Amino acid sequence: MMHPYDMHQDIERILVSETELRRRIEEVGGRLSRDYAGKRPIFVGVLKGVVPFFAAMARAVQIPCQWDFLSVTSFEGGTESTGQLTFRKDIDHDIAGRHVVILEDILDSGRTLKFVKELLERRHPASVRICTLLDKPAGRTVELEADYVCFTIPKAFVVGFGLDYDDYYRNLPYVGVLKPQVYQD
Ligand code: XMP
Ligand code: MG
Repeated sequence: MMHPYDMHQDIERILVSETELRRRIEEVGGRLSRDYAGKRPIFVGVLKGVVPFFAAMARAVQIPCQWDFLSVTSFEGGTESTGQLTFRKDIDHDIAGRHVVILEDILDSGRTLKFVKELLERRHPASVRICTLLDKPAGRTVELEADYVCFTIPKAFVVGFGLDYDDYYRNLPYVGVLKPQVYQD
């Protein structure tokens, strides 16, 4: 019998388990619900890595809110940023006067979120805050902090729960450290 390729064998260690993800997203979702009560916020997800986090967070938030998505990319097919930011897809909503919460999978160098935040701020929203699943402070090259952080992680290349290597591993149910030999070969 053919065995499907086991993605888990490429993972060195699990950093954030499924249970930890669920519990912490519930917790931060509760905080967002309280902070934005009566404000009808618009959640803007940064594609594609945010998809599982966005879906989980959207269910954890218990207040009326709208969804939108944009797409930028800071690097392709590698583990190091190239320095090139490409704007691929804009949001659909007019955000003037609105309370915007940007959702992202990881805040690493900070360049992507700085670019996105400044782009949205130019459209005169009432407020813009950042909510990230992961924060990797050791990777920071620009000055930027998130307003809501689910997990602070050490300096390692991570995949799973939306995070990818060459667009793979996004479907892992946890966040794990990829074995270096996977991207060094
Ligand atoms: P910056 O450096 O702009 O990075 O804050 C944000 C984007 O880069 C990707 N990124 C990662 N993707 N594992 C990944 O799978 C990582 O450890 C990692 N660090 C950065 C990610 O797409 C994020 O949106
Ligand atoms: Mg991303």
